[in-house]
Amino acid sequence: MNRALPVVRLRVPTDEDAIAWHRVFDDPEVMEFHGGKARDLSVYEELTARQRRHDAERGFCLWTMVDDTGRVIGFTGAQPWPQEWGPTGEIEIGWRLGREYWGKGYATAAAQMTLERLRAAGVESVVAMVLSGNARSIAVTERLGMRLEHVFTEPRYGQQAHQYRLDL
Ligand SMILES: CC(C)(COP(=O)(O)OP(=O)(O)OC[C@H]1O[C@@H](n2cnc3c(N)ncnc32)[C@H](O)[C@@H]1OP(=O)(O)O)[C@@H](O)C(=O)NCCC(=O)NCCS
Repeated sequence: MNRALPVVRLRVPTDEDAIAWHRVFDDPEVMEFHGGKARDLSVYEELTARQRRHDAERGFCLWTMVDDTGRVIGFTGAQPWPQEWGPTGEIEIGWRLGREYWGKGYATAAAQMTLERLRAAGVESVVAMVLSGNARSIAVTERLGMRLEHVFTEPRYGQQAHQYRLDL
């Protein structure tokens, strides 16, 4: 890709960011591959608080993405894989943007910043877990140069999913 990636800032999610994440993700299209329904504010309060703990303990987390005008546009970053099934003990990278911010290169720009920060933190390898139908997310893994490692059935949704890996 020859274009310069867009400017995006990553910050550790604040208390108020739970409200921003809830507002930005309150959209069935954004949630299509996450159960299809918007989540309650309490879900984002727990999620952002957990990310602050990850940042304190590991120096990385799912960060709030802010554009060049200061608007919260989504999250991207890394966390220990949070489910009981799947790649326990691995570091997962992930991304979620408000619908109006898709198609501008923001997720790839933020994911590349994430990979640089993880390398600096000494992380050796990361995974990304994506439902097979989520073409936009799969395209991000391809832009990052990740390789398809496993195809499996996602236990929560009973749908086919892909595990991608990148060695740092
Ligand atoms: C997955 C998701 C983050 C991908 O977002 P995205 O905007 O498509 O991804 P990128 O940031 O890599 O942007 C790439 C697109 O921006 C375009 N673009 C525009 N300007 C660009 C620029 N300056 N640099 C790079 N790409 C640019 C690219 O051409 C590409 O468009 P295309 O898809 O039409 O080919 C987004 O669809 C999303 O939030 N989905 C809902 C949540 C979700 O499913 N998360 C993943 C769960 S596994």
